[in-house]
Amino acid sequence: MTVSAELPESLGRLSTMARAELFQGPTLLEPMPNLTKVCGGGQLFIKRDDCIPLAFGGNKVRQLEFYLGEAAAQKADTVLITGAVQSNFVRLAAAGARKLGMDCHIQLEERVPKTDPNYRQSGNVLLDRLLGATLHSYPEGEDEAGADRNLHAIAERLTAEGRRPFIIPLSPGHKPFGALGYVVAAHEMLAQIADQGLPVGEVVVASGSGNTHAGLLFGLRALGSPMTVTGVCVRRDADQQRPRIRDRCAEIAALLEVDNPVQDDDVVVTDAYLAPGYGQSSETSLEAIMLCAQSEALLLDPTYTAKAMAGFLDRARKSKSGDALVFMHTGGLPAIFAYQNELNAALDARDGA
Ligand SMILES: Cc1ncc(COP(=O)(O)O)c(C=O)c1O
Repeated sequence: MTVSAELPESLGRLSTMARAELFQGPTLLEPMPNLTKVCGGGQLFIKRDDCIPLAFGGNKVRQLEFYLGEAAAQKADTVLITGAVQSNFVRLAAAGARKLGMDCHIQLEERVPKTDPNYRQSGNVLLDRLLGATLHSYPEGEDEAGADRNLHAIAERLTAEGRRPFIIPLSPGHKPFGALGYVVAAHEMLAQIADQGLPVGEVVVASGSGNTHAGLLFGLRALGSPMTVTGVCVRRDADQQRPRIRDRCAEIAALLEVDNPVQDDDVVVTDAYLAPGYGQSSETSLEAIMLCAQSEALLLDPTYTAKAMAGFLDRARKSKSGDALVFMHTGGLPAIFAYQNELNAALDARDGA
């Protein structure tokens, strides 16, 4: 239940943190030759966290190794989590809980104005149900504090029934256990880059709660890498996301009991691909989905990786032939089926149907 002892001292207590093993890494770091040709700049690579083999995979598996490790250390028997209706995090929390013999209660928030039956019943919602999670609904969208309060009320009811609940928090101000998964990923990716002798100067990643972005940035700087980590905002604008990532890095340093290696200028975020809002597609995000599928047979989800890829493609087109860029694929693939109406409409428009 602990991280491999090979981690260097600059990562402080990381190797002693409780961790539930949910998959065996490393995930592949692969070239994307066709997309490289299309973009016409530097060499493009992809880190395949979408292929983590737990219930359709994705970045949240790495984060859950530490949350569920902590839950097991506290002898919890029930995990509680809140997220959007098509949240990947809640689906994977249900999957991870099942693997560890725990129950899972999921609270679904109304963050996206969609009444389409596919959105409400297919994709992640269907998987939540198949995994046997208990579903609750929270009628508000952007109300992190209220959603947390409601989750705590459910946990209190479970405690009164004799259960031992563990809450996985999404809002800031909690110990950033999830981000530790991406500190480990930074270590893993740097070893792959060194093995393959790649001149990688930048990695692009979706930035939502910020655990993936902050963990990756913290890990790279703690390991002495100056690589740029560009976070593509998928939920909030850059002015809100930037301090969130800075705070999260300081919280990781406190948790690992090391000095924070991340400077303010290291935090790079762009909100140029966020419109029209969280979980809502744009022309550029739909184009990114179609281009990746048809050049690299690479599938993206509409909420996170399509927007991050739209940002990555712009960076790639501006890059020079000697550069190398990595796209961190964070998964989310079941949501493709929840968004099938708008994806079909985009395909019809492309085909002139
Ligand atoms: C597929 C996918 N990519 C990226 C993210 C964003 O990760 P983070 O919340 O760590 O910023 C999420 C968050 O739910 C996700 O599901």
